[in-house]
Amino acid sequence: MKILFLDQSGKTGGAELCLLDVAKPYRDRCLIGLLADGSFRELLEQQGIPVQVLTGQAIPVQKDSNLLKGLSSIGQLLPLIGRIAQLSRDYDVIYANTQKALVVGAIASLLANRPLVYHLHDIVSSDHFSTVNRTLIVSLANRFSSLVIANSHASADSFVAAGGNRDHVKVVYNGFDLKQYQHHADAAQMRQALSLGDRFVVGHFSRLSPWKGQHVLIEALTHCPDVTVLFVGDALFGEQDYVEQLHQQVEQMGISDRVRFLGFRSDIPQLMTMCDLVAHTSTAPEPFGRVIVEAMLCGTPIVAAAAGGVVELIENDKTGWLSPPGDALKLVDIIQQCQSQPEQATAIAHQAQQSASQRFNLETTNQQIAHLLQQVMSDRG
Ligand code: UDP
Ligand code: GLC
Repeated sequence: MKILFLDQSGKTGGAELCLLDVAKPYRDRCLIGLLADGSFRELLEQQGIPVQVLTGQAIPVQKDSNLLKGLSSIGQLLPLIGRIAQLSRDYDVIYANTQKALVVGAIASLLANRPLVYHLHDIVSSDHFSTVNRTLIVSLANRFSSLVIANSHASADSFVAAGGNRDHVKVVYNGFDLKQYQHHADAAQMRQALSLGDRFVVGHFSRLSPWKGQHVLIEALTHCPDVTVLFVGDALFGEQDYVEQLHQQVEQMGISDRVRFLGFRSDIPQLMTMCDLVAHTSTAPEPFGRVIVEAMLCGTPIVAAAAGGVVELIENDKTGWLSPPGDALKLVDIIQQCQSQPEQATAIAHQAQQSASQRFNLETTNQQIAHLLQQVMSDRG
């Protein structure tokens, strides 16, 4: 089966890292068409996955766009849609991995008479999308797609609640290449390189963005005097004001010596292995949360904000801890519990590692997707 994957982002976010893994088995019979250039194109090239940037201009529609702004971008979209329709004649399926990819992929699928699959990586709610965009997602998916692959039951349910067709949706969790998360003997060396000594280190791995809630962890840190925090990740989508705000918050609270911003890193498993605890602090429901599973696979204890897909990943007190979104004091309790009862934290992390290895194995999730795609093709006859 030949697949034309489409993704709107040039940046390497979670949806793109998931796509990289989904596309790997098809590398000799697929193309990833990007609607913007950037580090993700470079990553795909390094991994030998065919990629083309399909437009030189950024598409101006944002997650919170209104109808007027949406309509004004149509003129810009038409040549792009024509190009995708033309390209897709050489492929059996169009696989849209993001919302803007769904918009252009839907019309191209009609023009080229190819089935459309939509991989939904989002919670389709007002926390994340304007009303217009929610309507657009469900209308296009209902009308044009043969299959919607949701990254969690929470994402699937939000799609249905917004008017999406339940019969189109199948849940497939993100899968992970287990080898990448095992045996990081260099973790101690990395601690040394970062001059962390034997401090208790909480890692936060996420792009810097208000809804990812880095400010909640900084607030918690003021109540945990002997804890150091590492923020790993960059502002991917122009959230510079928030970055500024975080630096100010750290300075005002007088904790600059206990907070490090490491920027975007490509050695996540090594960094996670080195941490005593990984914290996930999203203030809006997280659709899935790759970083949570990655921490589990590394055998590092995890505390995560209990909303969206997160509650499907962690069993509280058994494979990690769930904390109410935005609740800094509850986070403090959990950090302190982890510090004072390290054996219990290690046992929970061990349990999490076993559970995550079974539930989020890339081989299994890729088989699930292959099976669903076969079904789409055979349903078309
Ligand atoms: N990540 C990374 N380098 C960084 C920060 C994050 O490679 O500096 C990766 C992280 O390991 C995870 C992904 O980016 O695989 C983020 O995915 P997640 O689902 O947690 O959140 P998203 O940003 O997609 O909402
Ligand atoms: C999106 C979501 C994130 C999810 C990722 C992979 O980027 O925000 O929660 O883990 O896609 O499905």
